[in-house]
Amino acid sequence: MYQVYPRSFQDSNGDGIGDLTGIIQRLDYLKKLGISAIWLSPVYRSPNDDNGYDISDYEQIMAEFGTMADMEQLIHEAQQREIKIIMDLVVNHTSDEHPWFIESRSSKDNPYRDFYVWRKGLDGEKPNDLESTFLGSAWQFDEPTGEYYLHLFSQKQPDLNWENPDVRNAIYNMMNFWIDKGIGGFRMDVIDLVGKIPDQKITGNGPKLHDYLQEMNAKTFGGKDLLTVGETWGATPEIAKLYSDPKRNELSMVFQFEHVSLDEQPGKSKWDLRPLQIAELKKVFSKWQTELDDQGWNSLFWNNHDLPRIVSRWGNDSTYRIQSAKMLAILLHMLKGTPYIYQGEEIGMTNRVIQDITEVEDIESKNMYIDRISKGYTKTEILASINAKGRDNARTPMQWDNTENAGFTTGKPWLAVQDNYHEINVANALADKNSIFYTYQKLIELRKNYPLIIWGSFELLTNTPETVFAYYRHYQGETWLIVCNFSNQEQPFSLEKTTTKTIIANTEKEYFDLSDRILEPYEAFVVCLAR
Ligand code: GLC
Ligand code: CA
Repeated sequence: MYQVYPRSFQDSNGDGIGDLTGIIQRLDYLKKLGISAIWLSPVYRSPNDDNGYDISDYEQIMAEFGTMADMEQLIHEAQQREIKIIMDLVVNHTSDEHPWFIESRSSKDNPYRDFYVWRKGLDGEKPNDLESTFLGSAWQFDEPTGEYYLHLFSQKQPDLNWENPDVRNAIYNMMNFWIDKGIGGFRMDVIDLVGKIPDQKITGNGPKLHDYLQEMNAKTFGGKDLLTVGETWGATPEIAKLYSDPKRNELSMVFQFEHVSLDEQPGKSKWDLRPLQIAELKKVFSKWQTELDDQGWNSLFWNNHDLPRIVSRWGNDSTYRIQSAKMLAILLHMLKGTPYIYQGEEIGMTNRVIQDITEVEDIESKNMYIDRISKGYTKTEILASINAKGRDNARTPMQWDNTENAGFTTGKPWLAVQDNYHEINVANALADKNSIFYTYQKLIELRKNYPLIIWGSFELLTNTPETVFAYYRHYQGETWLIVCNFSNQEQPFSLEKTTTKTIIANTEKEYFDLSDRILEPYEAFVVCLAR
């Protein structure tokens, strides 16, 4: 799976904003990479308070991105290349500019009133102290009717009331509208929140959540050849099985986020940084690799539009950029589950470094800045957090070539292109047979050819240095060994075994004899062991 963030992928008309025609122009590139499906971040009509995650019309395309005819053409052109389009389904909330909400807020007896979560204040106070993910109270007072509405994200993203069957049916109808257009499935935005009970301050994993998903499955995609993946921040392996056990008829798989929280201080927020411990990463991955058994399915990812670039985050984006990006790719793609690549990851795009808050577009970072300034943090501290974790890191325009604005646009890009595009770009990657791109291409090809990668069981090697992440995959009597040096130092590795072949590596070395080896910084290899 390859995630496209349309705003930053390819502009086709010079307005500085990526669009659907731009994506169509780049399908051959994605075909060359070898992917099977595109997860398309939202392209629906939206006032863009949260870059399309605030939808004002689910059945119209955002004017900046094109028209419904362009969308149909994208689906069709992708189909011609055996690529499916997975739509982003944002149904925990709508935009406050959605006609449902405009009706809902207009009067207490409007038929759409109950489409959203309205509460009376308590003696002129907010219903309770629930907080929004984007900071501040999750309750917004609304003048016309003198009540509060719930918004777990921005004030312009009022939460839908899933307890109302009319809401659910309206959503299912909308999903069927898209299924009928020939899409390949849905990525479900913050779906673990839809069973919320705000009065008890339950947001994630509410009691009705799985009933709703089973109902949704039955009324929309169930029994069809469609892929569904839920964004579930609160999932443990046990919870992930509830969503993804095929017998339960809910989703194909979920995104779990345990590994991406490992560099934050426990109990604090994503902005409170601490260094990653590789030992913890091993533990978390091993847990997810083994505990789902045959009752659940993993998705595998380092990046998305909300996360910083992995090569900058846990690799090395200077001296060892290429080595470390390949190591990270090999480590992830040899695991059990469905891998997701975020646009630009396949060429090793890096975080952007900002000097000032005026360079920020992302609502989450902006709100955090205001909040922390008011709490007495220094600007330097706050900018360090944004440079490490801000969502704009992943949202800078795709770097296609060495021409002005990296070939993303002929106009002024909505978010500045990174200066390093002269070196890091698709054209350079395609021209260099040792580029990161070809490692990703090969990994995708391997996954299509070796059932061991899909089905093999996982076993962690424990007698390695802490920063060497090594594991076996076993399948039908065959064993592969994956060895990754997760550090910028040489590391020893030794195993009294020989191999029958090297599957993939980020060096030119021979891997016949595995005893007494010294791994280079970020060295990674995959071998098939002799029996
Ligand atoms: C998800 C999206 C994120 C968005 C939020 C609210 O976490 O990935 O980009 O801001 O939901 O829709
Ligand atoms: Ca455009």
